[in-house]
Amino acid sequence: SSFVHQLADEHLSEAELLADPAEKIAALGGSRHPSIPLPVDLFGTWKNSGGIDLQERGTLRDTAAAIDITPTTLTVASASAADAKAAIDRAAAAVPEWSATSIEHRAAILERLADSLEHNRIELMALAVKEAFKTIPDALGEVREAADFCRYYAARARADLATVTLPGPTGERNELRMEGRGVWATIAPWNFPLAIFLGQTVAALVTGNTVVAKPAPQTPQIAALAVKLAWEAGVPEDALILVPGGPEVGAAITADPRIAGVAFTGSTPTAKKIARALLEGEDRPIVPLIAETGGINAMIVDSTALPEQVVADVLTSSFRSAGQRCSALRLLLLQEEIADTVIAMLRGAMETLVIGDPGDPATDVGPVIDQPAYDRLMAYRESSKGKWLKTLPVPAQGLFVPPTMLRLDSLEALDREWFGPILHVATWKAGQLEETIARVNAKGFGLTMGLHSRIARSGEIAEARARVGNLYINRSMIGAVVGSQPFGGEGLSGTGPKAGGPHYLQRFCAERSVSVDT
Ligand code: NAD
Ligand code: ALA
Repeated sequence: SSFVHQLADEHLSEAELLADPAEKIAALGGSRHPSIPLPVDLFGTWKNSGGIDLQERGTLRDTAAAIDITPTTLTVASASAADAKAAIDRAAAAVPEWSATSIEHRAAILERLADSLEHNRIELMALAVKEAFKTIPDALGEVREAADFCRYYAARARADLATVTLPGPTGERNELRMEGRGVWATIAPWNFPLAIFLGQTVAALVTGNTVVAKPAPQTPQIAALAVKLAWEAGVPEDALILVPGGPEVGAAITADPRIAGVAFTGSTPTAKKIARALLEGEDRPIVPLIAETGGINAMIVDSTALPEQVVADVLTSSFRSAGQRCSALRLLLLQEEIADTVIAMLRGAMETLVIGDPGDPATDVGPVIDQPAYDRLMAYRESSKGKWLKTLPVPAQGLFVPPTMLRLDSLEALDREWFGPILHVATWKAGQLEETIARVNAKGFGLTMGLHSRIARSGEIAEARARVGNLYINRSMIGAVVGSQPFGGEGLSGTGPKAGGPHYLQRFCAERSVSVDT
């Protein structure tokens, strides 16, 4: 486990973190899943500091009926474009004061926030289950990763952001300063509604920026609680403003020329839209975009691999979180000689997956996020019927996409990210590892890749040839640990830098060199 996890372990043991979550989550209202009691209002009439009345604007999810939740139970409503502008006004006005605080002051706030996240873990886990259909282990992972981000960025800020003195001739003082850039926008996906939402946001804050933070429209309440905890930990209310809403609100934020940088995590098409929006306007400053997007992630398995380990790692990588991780395995590439054996073992192993209520600690695979995602995935699955190698029965009620393994004639047949529990299998020929990696690279994505092989040379080839941000050899491909496996891709998968890595915070800063003739 990482440095950061060890720190987290000193605060709360796994047992403490997991103490009675199911019972408490049920008491808090459980998940959106139909079999669980309706959610209670955790926020009452709590108002956003940007002056957005979260009660008055109606509900975000007009499709709520389709997922059997009473709309009135959602208290976080969508902001308007005018709200977004007002939030940026306030965040811009807060820049001078916040950017003048010390690195130590900001780092200490992040550490207090980490403690508070752990302290409030049950409510946060409940919301992750309720809004994002996270399973209980995944909901716990959200809290831990969010706390890890806070502690890691606090430590990195102290280590990396201090002003350094640089050499020069006698009589000249040269300094390099790392300063905030102004108002950052952070735009988050629903699939890590706490960890990614908060990770991006605290990185921008600790580097001296103020933030307008837009969560995904599916997961506003967990974001609202995270922002509330950040204020309580010491972030001024005007330095961090929650702006809930969907694509229109995101577009209104990125259209504002006062935005000094955008940290975005989500799909590749949205990243491109944001990149285009940031270039609009003759006089608009050129600002950084950090984009973390999707992938067509492959695992290559040769005949020396340990089949039992391969099967366990495939199951975890493809079906955990209902396949709704950007890192998830989409394309399993089996060496021809072992394909039938591994497929037979996978068929059996898939039967052990427990599919059902995400609020039940025994569940491995919950529902997918919403009706549009369900419809898209089910239509694709149906259109691939002739290729099914295995599919599983699912509960009749709820947005359950059956975990499905399907055969492809060639690895080129998969040309987009299917964001759900669908695993594609193709084969490759012995002796063609380099060519196979090159064919995967040619898809243009570059997020995660896996290799299972006991041949040291094959590992070296993968290390040299794989054009991905995260390469995993002889292990699963999900669950990057902050500080140990900095996460993020290249090409269609994103711009870098990598979240949870040592080069992330610098990208939120303006670097200023000062030379003084003394
Ligand atoms: P999405 O792109 O639909 O939405 C992401 C966020 O962008 C949301 O908050 C959304 O409201 C906002 N948005 C949408 N259109 C916008 C616009 N024009 N301007 C500004 N903001 C806009 O993605 P999603 O469905 O929420 O998330 C799933 C995707 O995220 C998958 O593709 C997955 O691979 C990717 N993802 C990547 C990573 C990573 O670290 N690389 C991590 C998690 C998820
Ligand atoms: N960081 C997440 C993972 O590695 C996306 O699964």
